[in-house]
Amino acid sequence: MLQLNEDACLDVVDILPIQLENLARKLPTNSGVNLINSDSAALDVESASYDRALLFFLLHEQPEDVRRDTLAEALRVVKPGGQLIIVDYHRPHPLNPLFLPMTAILATLEPYALDLWRHDITEWFPRNRKVANIEKRTMFGGLYQLIKVTV
Ligand SMILES: C[S@@+](CC[C@H](N)C(=O)[O-])C[C@H]1O[C@@H](n2cnc3c(N)ncnc32)[C@H](O)[C@@H]1O
Repeated sequence: MLQLNEDACLDVVDILPIQLENLARKLPTNSGVNLINSDSAALDVESASYDRALLFFLLHEQPEDVRRDTLAEALRVVKPGGQLIIVDYHRPHPLNPLFLPMTAILATLEPYALDLWRHDITEWFPRNRKVANIEKRTMFGGLYQLIKVTV
């Protein structure tokens, strides 16, 4: 169950109201979670206002221009020294038994996801945007990636 510290708050952004409604049904009352119906590519949020941001399986849903804007917004709203965490698809090792099935599934259902097989996510960061540190690791034979950006 989600348990936030008393002084912590969590804002969850989704562009589809139905996704937020589904989440609202799963949250305990007084969870401290704010549900925000917004476009990740154009956040109505002041710069440097969050300690951390998480893009969880979002970028593969977006065409490149929206993906670039989402990354720029996420980097904008995190405070200097804070962290941006990105979790999403990644090109698996060719010997991964899921390589061929995932190629077919993603090509059919998630056409933008294959961009994440071909490019490093940092290639879509705003040009000349400096960050303090980037750590990347992959999981499940390369199928998923986790990138930790210290802003
Ligand atoms: C694969 S789902 C992941 C959902 C959620 N992160 C989770 O872990 O269950 C991707 C979500 O991104 C949302 N989404 C897609 N484009 C968006 C955008 N431009 N702004 C905000 N949310 C977006 C979709 O509505 C969907 O709920």
